[in-house]
Amino acid sequence: MKKIKIETELEVYDSVSSLPSELKDLMHKAQKARENAYAPYSLFKVGAALLLETGEVIIGNNQENAAFPSGLCAERVAVYHAGATYPGKTIKALALTARSLNHEVRTPTPPCGACRQALAEYEVKQQTPISVYFMGETGNVVKAASVKDLLPLIFDSSYL
Ligand code: THU
Repeated sequence: MKKIKIETELEVYDSVSSLPSELKDLMHKAQKARENAYAPYSLFKVGAALLLETGEVIIGNNQENAAFPSGLCAERVAVYHAGATYPGKTIKALALTARSLNHEVRTPTPPCGACRQALAEYEVKQQTPISVYFMGETGNVVKAASVKDLLPLIFDSSYL
């Protein structure tokens, strides 16, 4: 038996204002998108903004449903919109932010497992890393240089 160690290196920025300007703008767009989330059940609003190679920005926010599993996370709303509207255009970065109507979210909120898998599909397809910047409502912003850093042992089409 041998052991395999999986390590991930993430970068932590103090706040949105310490991000490089392109990413600061992207996070501001995610914050704006977050406010239009439809989250009457969880009261947890999430906003996502994707930066394409062309400079275009695609936004998404969580869309909930009375039949709970029918809802969709902000990241997948954004990435599927990008796939549908800008097929073949490389996604450079994702900015993600969450806010609760119940309490202040200071802890950076990472993409859920299902969204990591959905994002991984596009990262593998485009053969270029998507950097992921995530935060709560206030406080630190965490950067993962690639979706792979958030999803070790990634499952992709090579296993099929
Ligand atoms: N949510 C997202 O939009 N993205 C995530 O990565 C985690 C969770 C949404 C789904 C649901 O509408 C609410 O947050 C509470 O889970």
